[in-house]
Amino acid sequence: MRDDDEYCDRPFASPTFAEIVDRRLSRRAVLKGGLVATAALATVSPMALMAAEKAQQAPFSFKEIERGVDETHHVADGYDADVLIRWGDPVLPGAPAFDPSNQSAEAQAKQFGYNNDFVGYVPLPQGSKNGEHGLLCVNHEYVSAEVMFPTQPEDASDAAKAAWKKKRAEIEIKAHGGSVIEIRKEGGAWKVVEGSKYARRVTSDTPMTIAGPAAGHDWMKTKADPTGTKVLGTINNCAGGITPWGTYLMAEENYNKYFSGSLADDDPRAVAYFRYSMPSGGTWAAAGDRFDVGKEPNEPFRFGWVVEVNPFDPHSTPVKHTALGRFSHEGAESILGKDGRVVVYMGDDTRFEYLYKYVSDGRYDPKKGVANSALLDKGTLYVAKFSDDGTMTWLPLLHGKARLDASNDFDSQARVLIEARRAADLLGATPMDRPEDVEPNPVTGKVYAMLTNNSQRGQNGMAQADGVNPRGENTAGHIVEMTPDGGDHTATTARWEILVRCGDPKRDGIGAVWNPATSENGWFSAPDNCAVDPDGNLWIATDQGDNWTSNSLKTDPDQPKGEIPKGISADGIWALETQGNRRGTGKMFYRVPIGAEMCGPRFTPDGQTLFVAVQHPGDDSCDKWPLFKGPSTFENPGTRWPDFKEGMPPRPSVVVITKKGGGRIGA
Ligand code: FEO
Ligand code: CA
Ligand code: CA
Ligand code: CA
Repeated sequence: MRDDDEYCDRPFASPTFAEIVDRRLSRRAVLKGGLVATAALATVSPMALMAAEKAQQAPFSFKEIERGVDETHHVADGYDADVLIRWGDPVLPGAPAFDPSNQSAEAQAKQFGYNNDFVGYVPLPQGSKNGEHGLLCVNHEYVSAEVMFPTQPEDASDAAKAAWKKKRAEIEIKAHGGSVIEIRKEGGAWKVVEGSKYARRVTSDTPMTIAGPAAGHDWMKTKADPTGTKVLGTINNCAGGITPWGTYLMAEENYNKYFSGSLADDDPRAVAYFRYSMPSGGTWAAAGDRFDVGKEPNEPFRFGWVVEVNPFDPHSTPVKHTALGRFSHEGAESILGKDGRVVVYMGDDTRFEYLYKYVSDGRYDPKKGVANSALLDKGTLYVAKFSDDGTMTWLPLLHGKARLDASNDFDSQARVLIEARRAADLLGATPMDRPEDVEPNPVTGKVYAMLTNNSQRGQNGMAQADGVNPRGENTAGHIVEMTPDGGDHTATTARWEILVRCGDPKRDGIGAVWNPATSENGWFSAPDNCAVDPDGNLWIATDQGDNWTSNSLKTDPDQPKGEIPKGISADGIWALETQGNRRGTGKMFYRVPIGAEMCGPRFTPDGQTLFVAVQHPGDDSCDKWPLFKGPSTFENPGTRWPDFKEGMPPRPSVVVITKKGGGRIGA
């Protein structure tokens, strides 16, 4: 999601002042004991230093690309980067030809949606590891209205304005959600399979089931659904995951931005609304009363969940799994524990929010196929508490335990899950610098959390810098590596280290820390998504949001006017080493066109294809770019990537990257 202040704020309410004082005191005690230095500040761990004695070869042999910003995308020499599918391309049979000047909800419902974020690859046949034929599952997070729709006349009548507002909301509802497409590699080139029996569009009004402990709770009931078990659609699906049984998890992130209206201050739901920044002045009430909280106050409780889609059956009903908690979900990547229980790692991407994981009660059974889905309805949700000494604990969110009871207005486990943030506050979870993707590495057993940025730590009574979030003004973000105790993802304890503190290592005062082997192109800011390739190497996708200009312009204040500032770069993909004496070395592989963020990324099981999602080209801060005369609009966009045709706006697209002549990406 657009990485600006408005979207990432947490209300200045909790933790309480007393809790903040508590934390300060405990931190001081730890600092006095001198324990903080090794765990919090080391980018090269003691183990890595030992390994450094046997110097290793860099695993990434590609030639790095250069930082920069322009109208198109770039990949390392020796690789091809081809557009696979764009906003408006056909997904379902009967999809009309794309006509952005005359878009309709009916057309959009059959076409590839807007702002592709998560990308999952599910091999075909089902259960295989085929790297040349599979289903691509892609989230459509939100829309960039200025470059998506023609500018409307300001002098239009009120009736015309109202009609456009309604039509626009109806198109947007169909442009959100996700797509499932069948793809195949033939003669070295990937193509979308036309007329596929798997093709599917999931939108913000697709009928879905609500399952797990919160299903049927009074707060989940609406006029349209007195059972509290059925809901229309999913909203603002950012990252996600693919389960061990091959289904597609969509994480509902900033759903609160779509609701408008107001709730009475003395309404019993007011605290829950406040803690989730509800409502937030959305525009979709023009298309349906359920988005007006004055008319349907429980509707927002039916969003903010993890949604499971069975990509093998386009007629299956998606399921919202409430056992995984309600918050601004980013990713939902899963892995099996040693005993076969399923563990799902998740971030709550808002400043000072938390890191979560879910552990199922039951064990994965490969023979059961997609019926393993029930594992996501019975289990325990945990929230992370980090200590400055490099250890961490996963605290269970269980009704009736640790003050999560009637004394704190939790009537049931349903309420604990619906108000997971408030429950996590009470447990003393560690407020983080905006957790985005959290991904386990199946090769090494480590887990990586992308903390994208947080410029407000220590301000307005919010949490101070601590070991795991060591910077006050953290504009560039950092990456935390966690090692579960006993090598088991179900363990409730782990150790942690900071892998890199992002940002320009040459810029004074921002505290960036990289391996010195990192080149001037190898550092990055604002890690957001990540992927692990089949060899266990880590790849990072960035989303600097509007900071992409301001960060870098400050890097070189003497830059002559009219010239491209040095150090500046669009978002992209960086390979990041995690082992040996090169641990913490970044290397730039791909970058997006101006105004875009980098999403995906996803490897095929053979490591020979990397899918990346270029989200909102021509959007973020194009007008601040000295070489563009803004503002960026449908008529005058910051770029017309990928078509570069007059009259055609920029189109969010999935790009497929392969090595010329074949072979593993990066090797
Ligand atoms: Fe949608 Fe947290 O990025
Ligand atoms: Ca994201
Ligand atoms: Ca990921
Ligand atoms: Ca982001």
